[in-house]
Parts: sequence; structure tokens; C-alpha cells
Amino acid sequence: MSTPSSTPTDATTTEAWGRLQQLADRKVDLRQAFDADPQRAERFSHDAADLFVDLSKNLVDDEVLAALVDLAGQVGLTQRRDAMFAGERINVTEDRAVLHTALRDPEGVRVEVGGEDVVPVVHEVLDKVYAFAEKVRSGEWVGVTGKRITTVVNIGIGGSDLGPVMVYEALKPYVQPGLSARFVSNIDPTDVAEKTRDLDPEQTLFIVASKTFTTLETLTNARLCRSWLLDGLRASGAIADGDDAASEAIAKHFVAVSTALDKVADFGIDPENAFGFWDWVGGRYSVGSAIGTSVVVAIGPENFTAFLAGMHAMDRHFVESDLAENVPALMGLLNVWYVNFHDAQTHAVLPYAQYLHRFPAYLQQMTMESNGKSVRYDGSPVTTDTGEVFWGEPGTNGQHAFYQLIHQGTRLIPADFIAVATPANPLKDGDADVHELFLANFFAQTAALAFGKTADEVRAEGTDEAIVPARVFSGNRPTTSIMAPALTPSVLGQLIALYEHITFTQGVVWGIDSFDQWGVELGKQLAKQVTPAVGGDESAIAEQDASTQSLVRWYRAHREG
Ligand code: F6P
Repeated sequence: MSTPSSTPTDATTTEAWGRLQQLADRKVDLRQAFDADPQRAERFSHDAADLFVDLSKNLVDDEVLAALVDLAGQVGLTQRRDAMFAGERINVTEDRAVLHTALRDPEGVRVEVGGEDVVPVVHEVLDKVYAFAEKVRSGEWVGVTGKRITTVVNIGIGGSDLGPVMVYEALKPYVQPGLSARFVSNIDPTDVAEKTRDLDPEQTLFIVASKTFTTLETLTNARLCRSWLLDGLRASGAIADGDDAASEAIAKHFVAVSTALDKVADFGIDPENAFGFWDWVGGRYSVGSAIGTSVVVAIGPENFTAFLAGMHAMDRHFVESDLAENVPALMGLLNVWYVNFHDAQTHAVLPYAQYLHRFPAYLQQMTMESNGKSVRYDGSPVTTDTGEVFWGEPGTNGQHAFYQLIHQGTRLIPADFIAVATPANPLKDGDADVHELFLANFFAQTAALAFGKTADEVRAEGTDEAIVPARVFSGNRPTTSIMAPALTPSVLGQLIALYEHITFTQGVVWGIDSFDQWGVELGKQLAKQVTPAVGGDESAIAEQDASTQSLVRWYRAHREG
């Protein structure tokens, strides 16, 4: 295995980049390309674990794909991939290994960080989480008054929220009846208020999930929830006043997940009831760690094991497949093709699976916190555009909202369409299989985007000449179709790992550190500094810029209550 270079190769100086620039000038026409090559769909489709991925409706031909694969070779994608999987410190600005992939390695695989094999400790923590989850699921773990836990509330934000909530929503059919999870993230007090309003403190368990255990939102919300719990238990006479009763209640109703177990103890949570993870797991890559504890409680250890196995299957595909057949690498390279050679600024992810309704939001952190960078990992400025904006909503809702712009707007918006063959809820509308009505939309939309409708075709429908232009669809709008047999825990794991490796691939081409997130720091610092001003401290107000002063004063004049 070769060591990653301390200076990224500038992709724009490679031979392949120059070739791609020339190829970008002669646009691929999808109508012509499909007419000319009856095998195109087959040739440009790939299997990756259980996923079937059709790349044929992208603006590429064999030459473009070959040049993209060459680009990957010339920037050292496989070396950097191998360095990541081997635990090298490729997160250079934080001097950390990047080993979310070790979270899903089976026992027996050896991955070293600083000379120590991390896989045994990963399984040790998983076993602890599983044992805890089984106790809650079976009713062995009860609240302070002996009642069964019926609701688990995960308190976290960013990667300590988006992953768990997305997975919980996606795997709803696997949730144990009688148990449910809620997710508190926003420091807007409304979030805690709404999520706790109808809960019974005697049957509620809080999981405080924070990698650092310093995050303002999470610690504030955890304190609010602690007060809600103790006030509720005291008000109903369930517990006595006093510190001992409070500690006993907290021990039964609060657990934590963190890399900072000392801080967990400071908060008042018994480290016995805490699940650890490690600095080599980035927040946005942490759903396969103990950060997924709320999910494990909800769906059970067996399903969570299948989820991790799905991630691992995609990891193996990424490591073992030739680049020309390697779906995450190809999809990452296609994103580079659109961002850097077609000026795409956004990328839509459109799941035709209602249970995936939080998947685009989850991907926003994964992709944009990872690749929204202006300097490369050696500190030099990037030499080309980097991270695009990821966004999306489930189909068909999106069709009735923003698809107009994707079909007929002036911007190129590459889109990933995701669907499953077997629905979780196979309902019929009379004789009609509603999942088939749904999937007809999935198939139709990508065809419409690719092939469009010409003016002649519009005229042939008898359209008034005056409105022909408005009804023309230019087509040639690129999409990738991803199909899976069903939305199982394994398939969900595969989808997540697929996008992790797509994101990684783009980051390697751009030469950036996809695993730090310094861009979130300044706002956090300023929020601390502005807090006394918001509270009315005149000297703090005077220290703010003119706009902030004016906004704070307006707030103070209008705040009621
Ligand atoms: O603000 C960004 C961030 O650091 C994310 O990267 C992270 O997922 C989130 O905050 C939450 O951090 P923590 O898990 O340490 O509370």
C-alpha cells in the first residue's frame, strides 16, 4: 500500500482533465446516443451489492467515461482510498484517521490506528449497545417507577441527529411495536417543547448523542429534557425532591453516546450508561457507531447488524471493483464532470420511497460539510469549483413542486432517482397496484428528462403554434437511476455507504480534506460573543457591527414575555 502524498495532485494539470475539457465541448446527445447504441442501457448499468445502478442517462459516452476513470487514476483515487481504509491520517487538518468503514468491519478484520487494532473495540461497544437495546426492548430496563420505556428521545444535532433520524424514518417497518423514537436537535426551544409535550416522563428514555459533548444545542436541550423529566416526575409524586432521587431518575432515564466520556460524567450521566466512539469517526459518518443507539433500540440488534453488513458490502464494492465498474467512484466522477465541466451548481437526490424522506437532508450534511471547501488539504487554494449543493424531496411530491425547473429551467441539474421494487405497504386502489403507479412516475421522469419532446412532437399533438415553445422539453438532462429490491436495513446501509464513497471520490479529485468542517466554527464563536448583547448588555451591543446592533435592538424592542 502506498502512502498518500502530502500534496494533492492538482487535477486541472492532469492529462485527463485536458481531455475532458475537449470532450465537454462536444455535448453528448442522449436521443442520438440511445439510437446509435441499443446496448447503451446495459453497457452503462452496474450492480453494486444489491443495488442496480443505471448511468446510461448521463451526458457521457465511452470516451468521457474513460477520461473520467483516467482522471481518477491520475489524482491517485485508489491510493487515497486504500490509505483511508488502512487508517492513515488522511484528515490532515485534524490529524486524524478516517475509519467509519471500520465500524462495519466484521470481527477478525484487522485495522490499525497508531499500532492498535480498532475492530475488537468497535465490536465491544456494539455488543454493549446491543445488550442495552435488548434490555429496553424486552422491558427489563424500566424507568424509575418501574414502568416500561415506550419512547426513546435522541438529543443530538448534525451527524448526531441526521443519521439516526433518517435511518429511523427509513426503517419504520422494522420498529418494534410499542416503542418509538423522537429526535430533538434544534436549540429553538420549540423543538424540545413539541417533542416532549405529550410524553410520559415515567416511560421516556433520553439518549444524549454528541461526539464532543460540548455542542451548545445538544447540551442545552439535554438540560431542558433533564428538567422536564425531573419536574414531571416530581409533579406527579413519582419521585421525592432531593438530589438522590434526581440521580436515581437520571440513571434510569438518561444514557449518552460520546467520545468524551469524562464530560458525560460531568453532566450527571453514569459512564456505565454511556457508549463510546472514537475521534476517527467523523460526525457525519457516525450513524454506524453508537450514535445509532436510538435506532438499535427501535429496530433491534439483528436489523442493525444487517444495516452495518449492507454498508460493509458497499465498502467492499468500492475497494474491490475496477474503477470502470466501481459505482461510487463512477458516480463521484460524474458529479465532477457536471460541476467542473458543465457548470452544475446543484445536485438533486429524489427518492421514490416515502420512507427515505429524510435521506436528502442527511446527504446535505454528508456532502456539503465534506466538500464545501476552498482550500486543499495542504492549505493551498483549490484550483477549480468544489462541492455542489445537494437537495431533494421524495417523488412524487417533488414533481408537483420543483421539477418544472429541472425539466425546463436554464440550469443543468443532475439528479439521482432512487426506487425499490417491493414496497413495504403494497396497497391497491381498486385493481391498480399503487406502487406500480408510483414507479411509473419514477421511470417516466428520467425518460422525460433524458429525451424531452421536440417542437415537432408538440405540434403533432395539435398544440396551438403560439404555445409550442412553452411546451417543448429540451431533454438531455442527466439522471442516474438507482434501484434496490426493497428498503431493507441492508439496502439502506448500502445507499449510505454509496454516497459516502461518492463524496470521498469528489474530495480526492478536488484535493480537499473531506473530513474536517472548520467552516462551522466562526458562526459558533460569534454566537457566543453576541449572546450577552441579545440579553441586553449595552457594552456587548456596542461591540457588534452596525447591522447586528440594529437587529439586536429591533429584537429587544419587539420581544414579549
Ligand atoms: O457543527 C458541525 C458539527 O461539528 C458536525 O460536524 C457534527 O455532526 C455536529 O456538529 C454535532 O457535533 P457533536 O456530535 O460533537 O455534538
